[in-house]
Amino acid sequence: MENQDTASLVRSKTDIVDVIGKRIPLIARGKNYFGICPFHDDDNPSLCVSREKQIYTCFSCHATGNVFTFIMNYEHKDFYDALKYLADEVGVEVKGRKKKTTTNTKYAKYYSCYEFCEGYFQNNLHTKVGKLARDYLKSRNLDDKVIKEFKIGLSLENDNDLTNLLTKKGYTLADLNSWGLSVNNYDIYKDRIMFPLFDITGSPVGFSGRIYKDIDQNKYLNTRETVVFKKGLLLYNYHKAQEECRKTHSIIIMEGFMDVIRAWTIGIKNTVALMGTALTTDQIKLIKRLSNQVILCLDGDSPGQKAALLNGELMLKEKIEVKVVSIPDNDDPDSYILKHGKESFERLLENALLFSDYKMNNLKRNTNFKSIEEKTEYINEVLKEISLLDDEIRIEIMLKKLAKDAEIGYNTLEKRFMKLKTVNKEQVIKMQNKPIIRKNKYQKAIEQLIYSMITNGENIQLVEKERLIFPDEKIRLLINEINYYYRKYGNINIADFYTYVSDKKELVEILNTILACDYQDEIKEKELQEYFDVIRENSMNLEIKRLQKKIEEEADPIEQAKISERIRKLRIGEL
Ligand code: CTP
Ligand code: MN
Repeated sequence: MENQDTASLVRSKTDIVDVIGKRIPLIARGKNYFGICPFHDDDNPSLCVSREKQIYTCFSCHATGNVFTFIMNYEHKDFYDALKYLADEVGVEVKGRKKKTTTNTKYAKYYSCYEFCEGYFQNNLHTKVGKLARDYLKSRNLDDKVIKEFKIGLSLENDNDLTNLLTKKGYTLADLNSWGLSVNNYDIYKDRIMFPLFDITGSPVGFSGRIYKDIDQNKYLNTRETVVFKKGLLLYNYHKAQEECRKTHSIIIMEGFMDVIRAWTIGIKNTVALMGTALTTDQIKLIKRLSNQVILCLDGDSPGQKAALLNGELMLKEKIEVKVVSIPDNDDPDSYILKHGKESFERLLENALLFSDYKMNNLKRNTNFKSIEEKTEYINEVLKEISLLDDEIRIEIMLKKLAKDAEIGYNTLEKRFMKLKTVNKEQVIKMQNKPIIRKNKYQKAIEQLIYSMITNGENIQLVEKERLIFPDEKIRLLINEINYYYRKYGNINIADFYTYVSDKKELVEILNTILACDYQDEIKEKELQEYFDVIRENSMNLEIKRLQKKIEEEADPIEQAKISERIRKLRIGEL
């Protein structure tokens, strides 16, 4: 069975009202069910779920989709996992496996080469020359099990051991240089402990090599960026952490991979590492795919704290719930766990501060309260933070705390706070009052026409006979897909068609705007005829406009007259 067929089967056996209703309370109103939309911050039930159409639409944030998109977005799964999850529930078997990038892609040659190196490095570690490196790893409390689990290895001291081996296997020096394994035709990694790096699906994409002797060299040497290795597109350990993140509904972000590996050894497996950079928007998207709750657990030193402030802010903007763990005494998670043990570290995690609290503590620590200027600035900054909060009780607690910390009257603070809050509110209202896009009758006709096609296959045939012209290319594409789908499956419904176009982003967008409009369900042939007329009228107007422009550009009066005549005939319908 093809993926689309399986998806349709699974979809037909599930009821979107049950699936969503299990997760958020729904209330029946008329034909539809309503609940509080989980995809934006709201107290009103703006999410509408239709049992009849098997889709949902939010009238506020316009989140729209079928049962698969709901599970994908709500449970942070990709399409395959959402399909598999729902299929299990209704007892349908999903054939085939998730597409693994390791085989059969244009990047396979990279993966197989790095995989070979991985084995080679791992092997080196267990030979005679690997003794010192093994001792080093032992001294850092990494046992054989975890060395194997993270595929840690060793590069040799020789100048071109690996380069030779790989050229003998048929790789060219040019490739090896550009893939970051060699430099100037010699091995780039010499006598380093090798940590393989993987992309988010678990394909090997490079290495990070750490010195382990007392030498004056860069501590870590990372593979250069290639088409398969973009530092900003991956997080260390992402592929291994996925399952645990979904289970625990949280993800812990650390700074280095030694930290992640250490946490793993004490059974904390929902962790990823930044590898010494600030989060990119792509990485934030990856994080959101796993969970909306992040615990930042960066190093205890001052760069670590700066990084926590910076990254926390970035994630907050993306509506991620951020907490911060402060590790005392300049330790990092690795050294902290080694010194104080598992329970103590778990306590740190449990006591993680909400990001806003962390930020305010930080402000307080860095303010000289003897300076009036610094103190005023501190008060204003903290008030600004508090004004962003929603919880009234929390707001009052924080205001009281601020009054105490800054030794200032509560009433004065509250007054200032109310002022700030009104400014914020006005901004929010401005943002919410997005200009309503007024659709002209032509746009409405097209949308209603498309809606009628995906709700009733017979209309597809009627529309086809009309040979209408749709000036917008995306609309043409969408209608093509509708026709194709109907011809292939012999029937059509919104929910399955939705899955069918789901990887064509621009078509999904149009579909979403149409579904958000709540167009009329049953339309009569007479109404359909009216839409045809409107669409024709529009094409004619566009054609006339084009001809009028042509007249303006035409120098020859005879030609001009010919075009005018054409316009006249168009208007009276003779053309
Ligand atoms: N890093 C790097 N190059 C360096 C130093 C650091 O790429 N010269 C990256 C590595 O990915 C490292 C992370 O930044 O894991 C955090 O750096 P650091 O805290 O110094 O390393 P640790 O992970 O703590 O490693 P170790 O405990 O072995 O020093
Ligand atoms: Mn460390």
